Amino acid sequence: MLTLQAPVSQTFTARYGEGATLFASPGRINLIGEHTDYNGGFVFPGAVDKGIVAAIRPNDTARVRLYSIDMDEEVIFGLEEADKPTPSWAHYIFGVCRETIKRGGQVGGFDAVFAGNVPLGAGMSSSAALESTFAFALNELFGCGFDRAELARIGQSTEHNYCGVKCGIMDQFASVFGKQGCLVRLDCRSMEHAYFPFDPQGYRLVLINSCVKHQLTGSPYNDRRLSCERVAQALGRELLRGATLEELEAIRSQISEEDYRRARYVIGEEQRVLGVCEALEQGDYARVGRLMYETHWGLSRDYEVSCEELDLLAEIAEQCGVTGSRMMGGGFGGCTINLVKEELYEPFIATAKQQFEARYGITPLVYEVVISDGARRL
Ligand code: GLA
Repeated sequence: MLTLQAPVSQTFTARYGEGATLFASPGRINLIGEHTDYNGGFVFPGAVDKGIVAAIRPNDTARVRLYSIDMDEEVIFGLEEADKPTPSWAHYIFGVCRETIKRGGQVGGFDAVFAGNVPLGAGMSSSAALESTFAFALNELFGCGFDRAELARIGQSTEHNYCGVKCGIMDQFASVFGKQGCLVRLDCRSMEHAYFPFDPQGYRLVLINSCVKHQLTGSPYNDRRLSCERVAQALGRELLRGATLEELEAIRSQISEEDYRRARYVIGEEQRVLGVCEALEQGDYARVGRLMYETHWGLSRDYEVSCEELDLLAEIAEQCGVTGSRMMGGGFGGCTINLVKEELYEPFIATAKQQFEARYGITPLVYEVVISDGARRL
């Protein structure tokens, strides 16, 4: 994100003058715990070194002037509900303003310029990075006094109410709470969290981007959530969290086969996250890796949020002897996350690129994971 500071700051000065403050928030990875957050389960994300940088300065008016360097577009909007701007990229920031105001924050007008380097549609939460940057910045600049957990909720509500994605809390949480060198295990029901230093000696964590751009807006993501809610209701529970496979079997005839499979995945995933935490404490990376593969195939076959490109990447990883590999994030495209032994790294990346290119005619992109800090003033 460091490379974004100079262009963001210079562009601000050129467009709106002096006096801006710089803020940043990262995208995230998730080691394990996918589609568990909105079920009240556990997730295990970490913030990355790619994110959003924004230069912001209150302007003593009731209007926001916002310039996106990446879109090369300026949008001006007011802060009332009726003022929702047209470009979809601006909904994230408008939503953060509105959600802050709804919670009693005295947000006034401001000028802002921002840019990002989280690959879009890669399942690395570029949108959460954007929301967290602005939630954090407005909280500081307008003295709203919200704690970090509330800032994460402001981002999540923005997705729900202004962007059409009924997401869980994982992405915004990771973006706000990230800590250099640490993954964070979050209990999405109680919001209790614990940092786990993550530096597996002799291994590397690498993302491979299938370059299939995922889109969580629209039905497929929200559909999964509805399935889970239906099953929870059939089980007489508020959330799927804590349900057992036995309980699920007992109501199998009352729910659709599709909902059954989806719930089976979620229940299994809750156990896998706890298994990974235990394995990490014992330094048992082989077990961490096995659980990652199980998650992948659960997401692919039961939850049906993978795609053939991601399945191929996981298969190649397995053939290359990679310790663990799985699709990451909401799905329908984006990246796999791979835990790979140092000595296998080069041959694995070479094979993955070559086989993927032979099948799809494009070279997948590779990102080394650097676990970094969350939302901050620069
Ligand atoms: C997206 C959502 C998250 C989470 C993941 C899947 O990233 O924003 O809340 O549900 O998908 O684990």
